[in-house]
Amino acid sequence: MAQTQETQRVAIVTGGAGGLGFAIAERLADQGHVVAIWDLDEERAGAAAARLPKAHGYGVDVTDRAAVDAAMSRVVDEFGPLGILVNSAGHNGPLEAFADYPFDGWRFVMTLNLDAVFHCCQAGVREMLKTGYGRIVNLASIAGKEGNPNAVAYSASKAGVIGLTKSVGKELATTQIRVNCVTPAAIETEMLSQLTPEFKAFVTSKIPVGRLGRAEEVASLVAWLASEECSFSTGAVFDVSGGRATY
Ligand SMILES: NC(=O)c1ccc[n+]([C@@H]2O[C@H](COP(=O)([O-])OP(=O)(O)OC[C@H]3O[C@@H](n4cnc5c(N)ncnc54)[C@H](O)[C@@H]3O)[C@@H](O)[C@H]2O)c1
Repeated sequence: MAQTQETQRVAIVTGGAGGLGFAIAERLADQGHVVAIWDLDEERAGAAAARLPKAHGYGVDVTDRAAVDAAMSRVVDEFGPLGILVNSAGHNGPLEAFADYPFDGWRFVMTLNLDAVFHCCQAGVREMLKTGYGRIVNLASIAGKEGNPNAVAYSASKAGVIGLTKSVGKELATTQIRVNCVTPAAIETEMLSQLTPEFKAFVTSKIPVGRLGRAEEVASLVAWLASEECSFSTGAVFDVSGGRATY
């Protein structure tokens, strides 16, 4: 069967100035989509967008619901209906034994890794329902399936992203909106500098392929999940873990 010709869409990538988000934004821009990069710092978002064709940078704190709604309206007003939303903004948070885990660290991680995904997905779905078409891809993590020791907030927040994805994907299954998530193992990005050398060695040792993943390897899977060809998968969890995942 011949491959379908991909329609050029308007795409938003949160956390798009950094590691995986930028690799995903680059891939979507290469495919001809108009990409809006949302990141905390407007200048950084603009500098990242300037490296790509038809991309635009926005300073958006995705934990701020009003800022998310305002940025969503701006993108749709400026470029047209939203076709693709990728939620990549995230943080590891504290690495601490559970007995000492700081509650403010837990709240910080939940607000960014889970509440913000709720805000962006809800704002995105409201736009996508206007056309009946859309692709949402959430960056969860293998930690959300397995739980990483000393990373309770990160593990719980990513398990939350998996549950959110499954629920919203099933709910919208009779539309042409598809909602999926990916669960990478450790990938070589800035985020890994938030880890201690010991923790980095621990997560690498758990990968049967024997190395860290590359941002392009995640971007390639996300690009397919963001495409029209991803028509019969929704509310699903896609592995990119170098063989670490057992389910
Ligand atoms: N790198 C890994 O090993 C790995 C593994 C599994 C899952 N993930 C997930 O993939 C996603 C991307 O990770 P990464 O490695 O690219 O991280 P990264 O730290 O390199 O990039 C994250 C980006 O999010 C932005 N950001 C942070 N807070 C924000 C906010 N409030 N509003 C808007 N933007 C904000 C940062 O400025 C940064 O550009 C995260 O959700 C992460 O949990 C990463």
